[in-house]
Amino acid sequence: MAMRFFLLACSLVAVASAGNFYQDFDITWGDGRAKILNNGHLLTLSLDKASGSGFQSKNEYLFGKIDMQIKLVPGNSAGTVTAYYLSSQGPTHDEIDFEFLGNLSGDPYTLHTNVFTQGKGNREMQFKLWFDPTKDFHTYSILWNPRHIIFMVDGTPIRDFKNLESRGIAFPKNQPMRIYSSLWNAEDWATRGGLIKTDWTKAPFVASYRNFNANACIKASGRSSCTPAKSGWWNQELDSASHARMRWAQKNYMIYNYCNDVNRFPQGLPPECSIA
Ligand SMILES: *[C@@H]1O[C@H](CO)[C@@H](O)[C@H](O)[C@H]1NC(C)=O
Repeated sequence: MAMRFFLLACSLVAVASAGNFYQDFDITWGDGRAKILNNGHLLTLSLDKASGSGFQSKNEYLFGKIDMQIKLVPGNSAGTVTAYYLSSQGPTHDEIDFEFLGNLSGDPYTLHTNVFTQGKGNREMQFKLWFDPTKDFHTYSILWNPRHIIFMVDGTPIRDFKNLESRGIAFPKNQPMRIYSSLWNAEDWATRGGLIKTDWTKAPFVASYRNFNANACIKASGRSSCTPAKSGWWNQELDSASHARMRWAQKNYMIYNYCNDVNRFPQGLPPECSIA
Protein backbone atom coordinates (compact mmCIF):
# COMPACT_ATOMS: atom_id res chain seq x y z
CA MET A 1 0.00 0.00 0.00
CA ALA A 2 2.72 2.43 0.96
CA MET A 3 4.60 1.65 -2.23
CA ARG A 4 1.53 2.10 -4.35
CA PHE A 5 0.95 5.49 -2.73
CA PHE A 6 4.53 6.50 -3.46
CA LEU A 7 4.21 5.67 -7.14
CA LEU A 8 0.94 7.50 -7.55
CA ALA A 9 1.93 10.52 -5.51
CA CYS A 10 5.26 10.88 -7.19
CA SER A 11 4.53 10.45 -10.89
CA LEU A 12 7.98 11.37 -11.99
CA VAL A 13 9.88 10.54 -15.12
CA ALA A 14 13.62 10.58 -15.45
CA VAL A 15 14.80 12.40 -18.52
CA ALA A 16 17.89 13.67 -20.12
CA SER A 17 17.00 16.80 -22.01
CA ALA A 18 19.52 18.58 -24.18
CA GLY A 19 17.67 21.76 -24.39
CA ASN A 20 15.84 23.60 -26.98
CA PHE A 21 14.48 26.78 -25.45
CA TYR A 22 11.21 26.52 -27.37
CA GLN A 23 10.68 23.03 -26.01
CA ASP A 24 11.74 23.53 -22.40
CA PHE A 25 10.91 27.14 -21.48
CA ASP A 26 8.23 29.81 -21.62
CA ILE A 27 8.97 33.49 -21.72
CA THR A 28 6.91 34.86 -18.86
CA TRP A 29 7.37 38.61 -18.83
CA GLY A 30 9.15 41.57 -20.37
CA ASP A 31 6.89 42.43 -23.29
CA GLY A 32 9.18 41.25 -26.08
CA ARG A 33 12.43 41.91 -24.22
CA ALA A 34 13.10 38.16 -23.84
CA LYS A 35 13.84 36.40 -27.12
CA ILE A 36 14.41 32.84 -28.26
CA LEU A 37 16.78 32.83 -31.24
CA ASN A 38 18.77 30.47 -33.51
CA ASN A 39 16.04 27.81 -33.78
CA GLY A 40 15.75 27.58 -30.00
CA HIS A 41 19.47 27.32 -29.25
CA LEU A 42 19.89 30.79 -27.78
CA LEU A 43 17.79 32.85 -25.39
CA THR A 44 18.43 36.48 -24.52
CA LEU A 45 16.96 38.58 -21.72
CA SER A 46 17.10 42.34 -21.80
CA LEU A 47 16.52 45.17 -19.37
CA ASP A 48 15.85 48.83 -20.02
CA LYS A 49 14.46 51.61 -17.88
CA ALA A 50 10.86 50.51 -18.49
CA SER A 51 11.19 46.79 -17.74
CA GLY A 52 13.31 43.71 -17.31
CA SER A 53 12.33 40.27 -18.59
CA GLY A 54 12.23 36.63 -17.62
CA PHE A 55 11.47 33.02 -18.45
CA GLN A 56 10.58 29.80 -16.66
CA SER A 57 10.75 26.10 -17.41
CA LYS A 58 7.68 24.31 -18.68
CA ASN A 59 8.54 21.34 -16.47
CA GLU A 60 8.74 20.96 -12.74
CA TYR A 61 11.72 18.98 -11.50
CA LEU A 62 12.25 16.92 -8.37
CA PHE A 63 15.99 16.22 -8.18
CA GLY A 64 18.38 16.38 -11.07
CA LYS A 65 21.59 17.76 -12.50
CA ILE A 66 20.73 20.93 -14.32
CA ASP A 67 23.24 22.87 -16.39
CA MET A 68 22.87 26.22 -18.09
CA GLN A 69 25.44 28.27 -19.95
CA ILE A 70 25.09 31.99 -19.30
CA LYS A 71 26.91 35.04 -20.63
CA LEU A 72 26.27 37.98 -18.32
CA VAL A 73 25.59 41.64 -19.13
CA PRO A 74 28.91 43.12 -20.33
CA GLY A 75 30.41 46.54 -19.65
CA ASN A 76 28.82 48.70 -16.99
CA SER A 77 26.24 46.32 -15.51
CA ALA A 78 26.03 48.09 -12.13
CA GLY A 79 22.54 47.91 -10.63
CA THR A 80 21.47 44.93 -12.73
CA VAL A 81 20.74 41.48 -11.34
CA THR A 82 20.57 38.30 -13.39
CA ALA A 83 18.77 35.71 -11.30
CA TYR A 84 18.84 32.02 -12.21
CA TYR A 85 17.17 29.67 -9.75
CA LEU A 86 14.98 26.70 -8.98
CA SER A 87 11.87 27.28 -6.89
CA SER A 88 8.69 25.58 -5.79
CA GLN A 89 5.49 27.48 -4.99
CA GLY A 90 3.82 28.73 -1.85
CA PRO A 91 4.72 30.08 1.59
CA THR A 92 6.80 27.03 2.55
CA HIS A 93 8.58 26.87 -0.76
CA ASP A 94 12.06 25.52 -1.40
CA GLU A 95 14.50 27.44 -3.55
CA ILE A 96 18.05 27.09 -4.87
CA ASP A 97 19.50 30.39 -6.08
CA PHE A 98 22.22 31.75 -8.27
CA GLU A 99 22.09 35.56 -8.57
CA PHE A 100 24.64 37.57 -10.48
CA LEU A 101 25.04 41.13 -9.23
CA GLY A 102 26.41 43.46 -11.88
CA ASN A 103 29.20 45.98 -11.42
CA LEU A 104 31.04 48.86 -13.03
CA SER A 105 33.22 47.98 -16.05
CA GLY A 106 36.31 46.22 -14.79
CA ASP A 107 34.92 45.56 -11.30
CA PRO A 108 34.00 41.98 -10.52
CA TYR A 109 30.49 40.56 -10.60
CA THR A 110 29.27 39.05 -7.35
CA LEU A 111 27.78 35.57 -7.55
CA HIS A 112 25.25 35.29 -4.76
CA THR A 113 23.89 31.87 -3.72
CA ASN A 114 21.16 30.89 -1.30
CA VAL A 115 19.10 27.84 -0.28
CA PHE A 116 15.53 28.11 1.01
CA THR A 117 13.93 25.16 2.76
CA GLN A 118 10.29 25.25 3.86
CA GLY A 119 10.14 28.98 3.15
CA LYS A 120 13.26 29.84 5.14
CA GLY A 121 16.39 31.22 3.48
CA ASN A 122 19.07 33.39 5.10
CA ARG A 123 21.81 31.06 3.90
CA GLU A 124 23.72 33.39 1.62
CA MET A 125 27.18 32.65 0.33
CA GLN A 126 28.79 35.01 -2.16
CA PHE A 127 31.68 34.59 -4.52
CA LYS A 128 33.75 36.40 -7.07
CA LEU A 129 34.53 34.42 -10.21
CA TRP A 130 37.94 33.39 -11.50
CA PHE A 131 37.10 34.59 -15.02
CA ASP A 132 35.22 37.45 -16.64
CA PRO A 133 31.65 36.08 -16.87
CA THR A 134 30.71 38.66 -19.53
CA LYS A 135 33.31 37.67 -22.15
CA ASP A 136 32.05 34.15 -22.76
CA PHE A 137 29.45 31.59 -21.84
CA HIS A 138 30.17 29.63 -18.64
CA THR A 139 28.29 26.68 -17.20
CA TYR A 140 26.35 27.12 -13.96
CA SER A 141 25.06 23.84 -12.56
CA ILE A 142 22.86 22.66 -9.76
CA LEU A 143 23.19 19.07 -8.67
CA TRP A 144 20.19 18.27 -6.49
CA ASN A 145 19.78 14.76 -5.17
CA PRO A 146 18.31 13.40 -1.92
CA ARG A 147 21.56 13.99 -0.03
CA HIS A 148 23.16 17.11 -1.50
CA ILE A 149 22.60 20.37 -3.29
CA ILE A 150 25.88 21.19 -4.99
CA PHE A 151 26.43 24.49 -6.81
CA MET A 152 28.99 24.30 -9.60
CA VAL A 153 30.69 26.78 -11.90
CA ASP A 154 32.29 25.23 -15.00
CA GLY A 155 32.28 21.92 -13.12
CA THR A 156 34.01 23.33 -10.04
CA PRO A 157 31.86 22.90 -6.93
CA ILE A 158 31.61 26.11 -4.93
CA ARG A 159 29.01 25.09 -2.36
CA ASP A 160 27.61 21.84 -0.95
CA PHE A 161 24.36 22.06 1.05
CA LYS A 162 24.01 18.69 2.72
CA ASN A 163 20.92 16.83 3.81
CA LEU A 164 21.08 17.16 7.61
CA GLU A 165 17.49 16.14 8.29
CA SER A 166 18.77 13.70 10.91
CA ARG A 167 19.92 16.82 12.81
CA GLY A 168 16.56 18.55 12.40
CA ILE A 169 17.42 20.76 9.41
CA ALA A 170 14.89 20.74 6.58
CA PHE A 171 16.06 19.64 3.13
CA PRO A 172 14.22 20.17 -0.19
CA LYS A 173 12.92 16.77 -1.24
CA ASN A 174 9.12 16.81 -1.65
CA GLN A 175 8.28 19.93 -3.62
CA PRO A 176 8.99 19.95 -7.35
CA MET A 177 10.67 23.09 -8.58
CA ARG A 178 10.66 25.04 -11.80
CA ILE A 179 13.67 26.80 -13.26
CA TYR A 180 13.33 30.57 -13.39
CA SER A 181 15.53 33.31 -14.73
CA SER A 182 15.15 37.04 -14.92
CA LEU A 183 17.13 40.18 -15.61
CA TRP A 184 15.96 43.13 -13.57
CA ASN A 185 16.95 46.42 -12.02
CA ALA A 186 18.06 46.29 -8.38
CA GLU A 187 20.06 49.49 -8.19
CA ASP A 188 18.77 50.07 -4.64
CA TRP A 189 21.00 47.33 -3.26
CA ALA A 190 22.87 45.32 -5.88
CA THR A 191 26.13 47.11 -6.50
CA ARG A 192 28.23 48.07 -3.48
CA GLY A 193 25.10 47.91 -1.41
CA GLY A 194 23.20 50.37 -3.63
CA LEU A 195 25.92 53.03 -3.79
CA ILE A 196 26.34 52.61 -7.56
CA LYS A 197 23.19 53.14 -9.61
CA THR A 198 22.26 51.78 -13.01
CA ASP A 199 23.57 53.86 -15.92
CA TRP A 200 20.54 53.89 -18.20
CA THR A 201 22.50 55.47 -21.04
CA LYS A 202 24.03 51.96 -21.42
CA ALA A 203 20.63 50.23 -21.78
CA PRO A 204 19.44 47.85 -23.06
CA PHE A 205 21.38 45.41 -20.87
CA VAL A 206 21.47 41.87 -22.27
CA ALA A 207 22.25 38.44 -20.78
CA SER A 208 22.41 35.31 -22.97
CA TYR A 209 21.67 31.63 -22.37
CA ARG A 210 22.49 28.46 -24.27
CA ASN A 211 23.10 24.70 -23.91
CA PHE A 212 20.52 24.00 -21.25
CA ASN A 213 20.81 20.41 -20.12
CA ALA A 214 18.73 18.58 -17.52
CA ASN A 215 19.34 15.07 -16.27
CA ALA A 216 16.41 15.18 -13.97
CA CYS A 217 13.17 13.78 -12.65
CA ILE A 218 10.22 15.61 -14.12
CA LYS A 219 6.82 15.79 -12.52
CA ALA A 220 4.49 14.32 -15.09
CA SER A 221 0.83 13.43 -15.31
CA GLY A 222 1.60 9.85 -16.35
CA ARG A 223 1.96 6.90 -13.99
CA SER A 224 5.67 6.31 -14.32
CA SER A 225 7.90 6.69 -11.30
CA CYS A 226 11.27 8.33 -11.36
CA THR A 227 13.97 5.70 -11.52
CA PRO A 228 17.19 7.46 -12.37
CA ALA A 229 20.24 5.35 -13.02
CA LYS A 230 21.79 4.13 -9.80
CA SER A 231 25.08 5.61 -10.84
CA GLY A 232 25.39 9.23 -11.89
CA TRP A 233 23.80 12.29 -10.37
CA TRP A 234 21.32 10.50 -8.09
CA ASN A 235 24.14 9.25 -5.85
CA GLN A 236 26.78 11.82 -6.70
CA GLU A 237 28.67 13.58 -3.96
CA LEU A 238 32.03 15.27 -3.76
CA ASP A 239 35.02 12.97 -4.04
CA SER A 240 38.32 14.11 -2.56
CA ALA A 241 39.46 15.84 -5.77
CA SER A 242 36.25 17.86 -6.09
CA HIS A 243 36.39 18.61 -2.38
CA ALA A 244 39.83 20.08 -2.93
CA ARG A 245 38.46 22.16 -5.84
CA MET A 246 35.66 23.48 -3.63
CA ARG A 247 38.13 24.40 -0.89
CA TRP A 248 40.20 26.23 -3.50
CA ALA A 249 37.16 28.21 -4.71
CA GLN A 250 36.00 29.04 -1.19
CA LYS A 251 39.43 30.03 0.04
CA ASN A 252 40.23 32.29 -2.91
CA TYR A 253 36.89 33.54 -4.20
CA MET A 254 34.31 33.46 -1.40
CA ILE A 255 33.52 37.00 -0.24
CA TYR A 256 30.64 36.28 2.15
CA ASN A 257 29.50 33.26 4.14
CA TYR A 258 26.48 33.52 6.43
CA CYS A 259 28.10 30.87 8.62
CA ASN A 260 30.87 33.35 9.48
CA ASP A 261 28.54 36.29 10.16
CA VAL A 262 28.25 36.13 13.95
CA ASN A 263 26.91 39.69 14.22
CA ARG A 264 23.95 38.80 12.07
CA PHE A 265 22.90 35.88 14.25
CA PRO A 266 23.17 37.10 17.85
CA GLN A 267 21.20 34.05 19.07
CA GLY A 268 23.85 31.81 17.52
CA LEU A 269 24.72 30.69 14.00
CA PRO A 270 22.21 28.49 12.13
CA PRO A 271 22.62 24.84 13.19
CA GLU A 272 24.00 23.60 9.86
CA CYS A 273 26.96 25.97 10.29
CA SER A 274 28.41 24.02 13.18
CA ILE A 275 28.02 20.65 11.47
CA ALA A 276 29.52 21.35 8.02
C1 LIG B 1 31.87 45.52 -7.31
O1 LIG B 1 33.21 45.94 -7.20
C2 LIG B 1 33.58 46.43 -5.93
C3 LIG B 1 35.00 46.94 -6.02
O2 LIG B 1 35.88 45.93 -6.41
C4 LIG B 1 33.42 45.31 -4.92
O3 LIG B 1 33.67 45.82 -3.60
C5 LIG B 1 32.01 44.73 -4.97
O4 LIG B 1 31.90 43.60 -4.12
C6 LIG B 1 31.67 44.31 -6.40
N1 LIG B 1 30.37 43.71 -6.53
C7 LIG B 1 29.21 44.30 -6.28
C8 LIG B 1 28.00 43.55 -6.63
O5 LIG B 1 29.10 45.41 -5.79
